[in-house]
Amino acid sequence: MRYFKKLVGEKCYLSPINIDDHEQYTEWLNDLEITSNLGASRGVIALNTEREYLEKLSREHNYAIIDKETDTLIGNCGFHKIDTISRNAEIGIFIGNKDFWDRGYGTDAMKQLMKYGFDHLNFRNIMLKVFSFNERAMASYRKCGFKEIGRRRNSILMYGKEYDDVMMDILDDEFRKLINN
Ligand SMILES: CC(C)(COP(=O)(O)OP(=O)(O)OC[C@H]1O[C@@H](n2cnc3c(N)ncnc32)[C@H](O)[C@@H]1OP(=O)(O)O)[C@@H](O)C(=O)NCCC(=O)NCCS
Repeated sequence: MRYFKKLVGEKCYLSPINIDDHEQYTEWLNDLEITSNLGASRGVIALNTEREYLEKLSREHNYAIIDKETDTLIGNCGFHKIDTISRNAEIGIFIGNKDFWDRGYGTDAMKQLMKYGFDHLNFRNIMLKVFSFNERAMASYRKCGFKEIGRRRNSILMYGKEYDDVMMDILDDEFRKLINN
């Protein structure tokens, strides 16, 4: 597959999405261990629909996460709900290749995307939502400087239990302080 080094971090780089990766994405998005964290476990994701979806995503600020050492696709991250007037956005990420979990790739990819969002898209605030059971994601987001700003309580019903939707955000100057220290 062909990837392009748009944003380069320590462990990975972010490239425009290659829609020919739809089969790999379809495999990941049928893995409940991954999709339960994304709120996507109730959807049906087939090859053709995933390709169409990737086509749409590839025209917006969504990027493939590529391992620098091997040039292989390991996941995806991007901005959504971009508000160009108030200059804010939501951010999201998943690493589909589970061999790469807990090795700092998620934090590295998020920091690159956040830097791009603040430096080039001129965002003032970036926000995200995460399920309260997703301790790994929250630990990674805290390393990127995100702080919890509130919870929608008991809004997620999964595994026979209720969980919260946790909201976290960061301002541009807070991020700049973090990366310059
Ligand atoms: C969430 C995700 C992007 C994080 O990326 P990652 O590369 O695995 O995360 P990192 O290695 O950068 O950081 C994870 C941190 O969580 C810690 N962690 C892992 N499991 C944990 C747990 N159960 N409780 C607390 N901390 C935990 C790790 O030790 C690590 O912290 P450290 O570097 O201080 O040791 C990735 O795991 C993923 O895509 N998961 C599946 C999909 C998903 O959850 N997406 C996010 C939806 S909001």
